[in-house]
Amino acid sequence: MSKLVVVDHPMIQHKLSILRDKNTGSREFRALVKEIGMLMVYEITRDLPLEEIEIETPVTKTRAKVLAGKKLAVVPILRAGLGMVDGILELIPAAKVGHIGLYRDPETLKPVEYFCKLPQDVEEREFLVVDPMLATGGSAEAAIQLLKDRGAKNIRLVCLVGCPEGVKMVQEAHPDVDVYLAALDEKLNDHGYIVPGLGDAGDRIFGTK
Ligand code: URA
Repeated sequence: MSKLVVVDHPMIQHKLSILRDKNTGSREFRALVKEIGMLMVYEITRDLPLEEIEIETPVTKTRAKVLAGKKLAVVPILRAGLGMVDGILELIPAAKVGHIGLYRDPETLKPVEYFCKLPQDVEEREFLVVDPMLATGGSAEAAIQLLKDRGAKNIRLVCLVGCPEGVKMVQEAHPDVDVYLAALDEKLNDHGYIVPGLGDAGDRIFGTK
C-alpha cells in the first residue's frame, strides 16, 4: 500500500485555514493555493537524491551537493490543478508541465479524457499530479492511469484537501502512488463536496460560479 502523508507544517495549516474561510475572495484564494502548493512540494521533495560534484568557490576547490536522479514534471488536473502550478515552478523552475483534462460522462459518471499533453520523456520523469481537492478520487485515479498508460513509472499525487473516500479510491487503484495532503477532512457530502472542505476550488480560484 502506498503512503498517505499529511503535510501539516504550521505555515501550511495557517494558510489552509484562511483558504477554507468562505469570506476569502478569489485574489487571496489564488495566492494561497499557489503558496501552499509551493510549501507542500518543498516538504515532499526532501527525499530527492543528491550527488556530489566538484566546484570551485572564490576561495578553494570543494565538493558540493546537487540534485540527482529523475527530473520532475508537474501535471495539473484541469481546471483547479492549474492554481498549484506556479508556486511549484517557483521552487522547481526546470520542471516540465503536462496537462490532463477530464470530464465526467453524464451516463456512466466515469471520467473521460478530453485533453492530455505530456513531456516527451515520460518514462524518465518523476511526476507530481496536482489537484487541490481529492474528493471521490475518480479524476485523480483516471489521471494517474493515463500517465501510466503513456509510460510514467514514478508518480506522486499532491492535493490540498482530501477525504477518506478519495484516498481509498486512489490507494486501492494505484498502490504504488504516494498521496500527499495538507489536510485529511471528515467525509464527502451528498453533493460530492468535501466536508468541512473549502467549497468549489476551481470556482474560488477563477472567480466563477
Ligand atoms: N471539488 C471541489 O472543488 N471541492 C470539493 O469539495 C469537492 C470536489
